[in-house]
Amino acid sequence: MASHVASADRFRIVGGMPLNGQVVVTGAKNSVLKLMAASLLAPGKTVIRNVPAIADVEIMSELLTRLGCTIESSSGVLTIDVPTQPEHRADYDLVRKMRASINVLGPLVARVGKAEVALPGGDAIGSRGLDFHIKGLEILGANAHIEHGYVVAKADKGLTGASVDLDFPSVGATENIMTAAVLARGVTTIENAAREPDIVDLGEFLISMGAKIEGLGTSVISITGVEKLSPTDHTTVADRIITGTWAFAVTMTGGDISILGARPEHLELPLEKLASAGAVITSIQGGIRVRMNHRPQSIDVATLPYPGFPTDLLPMVIALNSIADGHSLVTENVFESRFMFVNELIRLGAQINVDGHHASITGVKELSGAPVEAHDIRAGAGLILAALVADGETTVDQAFHVDRGYPNFTQQLQELGAKVVRE
Ligand code: UD1
Repeated sequence: MASHVASADRFRIVGGMPLNGQVVVTGAKNSVLKLMAASLLAPGKTVIRNVPAIADVEIMSELLTRLGCTIESSSGVLTIDVPTQPEHRADYDLVRKMRASINVLGPLVARVGKAEVALPGGDAIGSRGLDFHIKGLEILGANAHIEHGYVVAKADKGLTGASVDLDFPSVGATENIMTAAVLARGVTTIENAAREPDIVDLGEFLISMGAKIEGLGTSVISITGVEKLSPTDHTTVADRIITGTWAFAVTMTGGDISILGARPEHLELPLEKLASAGAVITSIQGGIRVRMNHRPQSIDVATLPYPGFPTDLLPMVIALNSIADGHSLVTENVFESRFMFVNELIRLGAQINVDGHHASITGVKELSGAPVEAHDIRAGAGLILAALVADGETTVDQAFHVDRGYPNFTQQLQELGAKVVRE
């Protein structure tokens, strides 16, 4: 597994090669991290399958180990042995590396009646509040607040089901409230809940532990608390963002790739957009095939919570539009600082103007290679896609960001015919 120690590694890419062949998509980062955190809800051995070999899984493993769990990892299968009485404090040195660490909050409050979780760091994509998480736990009866850089939550007498109405369908807040409510007394209703496939995967994981949950995948989730949960064995849902990244990549470079393990029903809007850019997308056994043989047409996109266009694919959209035929408008509605990476694309010759949460892009015939730097996982992937179609050589610094979310990316790109090395 990749090391999560920040390194000076970079990708060196020579553009111009089409992508051909097949790739296999494993479990979703944004799902597996939450499943791992939710394993805290039951003492004993929980098994999680289809686990991607990414740095964030290592970070979450270390966090759980510090909380008292014993973890074994072998060929994409994690076995997490959860103690009867887990520790309740998640320290800053780990939490700062990965925002998903906050997902231990709900399970810890529910299981041990208290949690202290450092305020997370995460990606440079904008300010990411925790007010919905804290308010949600308070509505369930916890005393929750921020103190000395930690979210401190206590529920000495346990949690009680209640109605929580989210101002925005936050993925993380929906998850923390769900994983707290499964052990609360009575019924919890989450209104304006997030509907992402990751939420459905987490809900199904909890149901397999004995939780009672209805409405997964809709805006109203209802949870009837149970007294205790049991360990489970669960296979992580396929990563729709990696699937989308590959589909965007081949639409930009041209070529013909099969993406095995993909779940196209989780990517309806992105695939529709790619079809309008000119890609030919077909279902094949166990996945999808994406073919492209000309310069893409530009596409207008506005990101929104699921089933809207995913914000995590925004850098790929901008990369595609930067070499597409035509002018496009891209609007970001979820994270205000996603556009930070645009300056890096401009270094490659892209013509992009950002105004607030809109980017207007005029496609150029060709980008030209230059040194650039990744600031977060998805921006890193977007820059790599741009480098694949740029004339000459591009280096993408800060490769460790990409390692957080893309398993074996260099090797997979090489196998598809890209000229890329890691150095
Ligand atoms: C998750 C994903 C991330 C994805 C995002 C939206 C993980 C580890 N990360 O992030 O890749 O881009 O969903 O699909 O799964 N907000 C508040 N207060 C809160 C919580 C959120 O204001 O208490 C705001 C955020 O600042 C942001 C918006 O709500 O503007 C959406 O955030 P949220 O859905 O919570 O994203 P994450 O769960 O952090």
